Amino acid sequence: MIIRRTPPHPIASSEITPESVYLNRRQFLEEAGLLSVVALAMPSDLGRSRVAQPQSAYPTTMGSDLRSELTPWDDVTTYNNFYEFGTDKSDPAANARTFRPRPWSVRVEGLVKKPADYDLEDFIKPYKLEERIYRHRCVEAWSMVVPWLGFPMADLIARVEPSPSAKYVEFITLNDAKRMPGQRIPVLQWPYVEGLRLDEARNPLAFFAVGVYGKMLPNQNGAPLRHVVPWKYGFKGCKSIVKIRFTDREPRTAWNLAAPDEYGFYANVNPNVDHPRWSQAKERRIGEFRRRATLMFNGYADQVASLYSGMDLRKSY
Ligand code: MTE
Repeated sequence: MIIRRTPPHPIASSEITPESVYLNRRQFLEEAGLLSVVALAMPSDLGRSRVAQPQSAYPTTMGSDLRSELTPWDDVTTYNNFYEFGTDKSDPAANARTFRPRPWSVRVEGLVKKPADYDLEDFIKPYKLEERIYRHRCVEAWSMVVPWLGFPMADLIARVEPSPSAKYVEFITLNDAKRMPGQRIPVLQWPYVEGLRLDEARNPLAFFAVGVYGKMLPNQNGAPLRHVVPWKYGFKGCKSIVKIRFTDREPRTAWNLAAPDEYGFYANVNPNVDHPRWSQAKERRIGEFRRRATLMFNGYADQVASLYSGMDLRKSY
């Protein structure tokens, strides 16, 4: 995302990743049943190859036609927006190294029949993890193709049973400036909040990710849990989620609060609606020079256009 102020660098450069962080990761993977993926973990130069792409141990349920377009691992994990760790694209990879995404709990609350506090492992356990290769289009007009690992959002919704009055679901990032030093600087209202209409969240494309490229999510990509909605601009995907709240009101989302004229609630990828400060007609796929035409709903119109029938997508941007 583009903002107009550059805050001072929030983290001392002397901070290094202790071994215990990696040990914790191993423990998490064992408990979450992800260890077999790590056994298959490929060196990062394999991820960079455009010819031989790594195979996942998990079934690809959507997007296998995009496998030849995968953005290399190095780019997926070093070119990130995660303002809790700084506002430059390289900041999250550098500054999130010491972040510990474990122990981690996820609270489901609000208008729901089965509210609960889950340990991350219990939250994930009932689901069969699958790979989804999705186009990922940032509002800043760059894009990637990313192989996420996770499970459909609809499965969680069925498990917790929202009440009939629930119309929206809100996703909330951890709010802890000691662990996320970028939160010491008020570039956004913390915690980061995103939201979806409940019917959007039930769409089969909406996904919770716990991994990428067959590995556990790196911190900078939103460890240990984020959501992904590939037909929307990247900012709709909330990272490092600790709360999922069902509500009858449209959530006040972080970017909408920061700049309501620029970032609407819907944030559907739409080449026909310019951002007030730049065109959205084209995008630069990371690793390519030629700019591509941006596709309506990021290429997912067949699956999602009906969610917005009757809406004026210039007003509901
Ligand atoms: N979630 C939180 N908590 N904080 C953020 O700053 N940035 C958003 C989104 N989710 C952000 C966030 C933006 S602007 C984008 S483009 C995507 O994360 C980037 O995700 P990526 O690192 O996987 O590319």
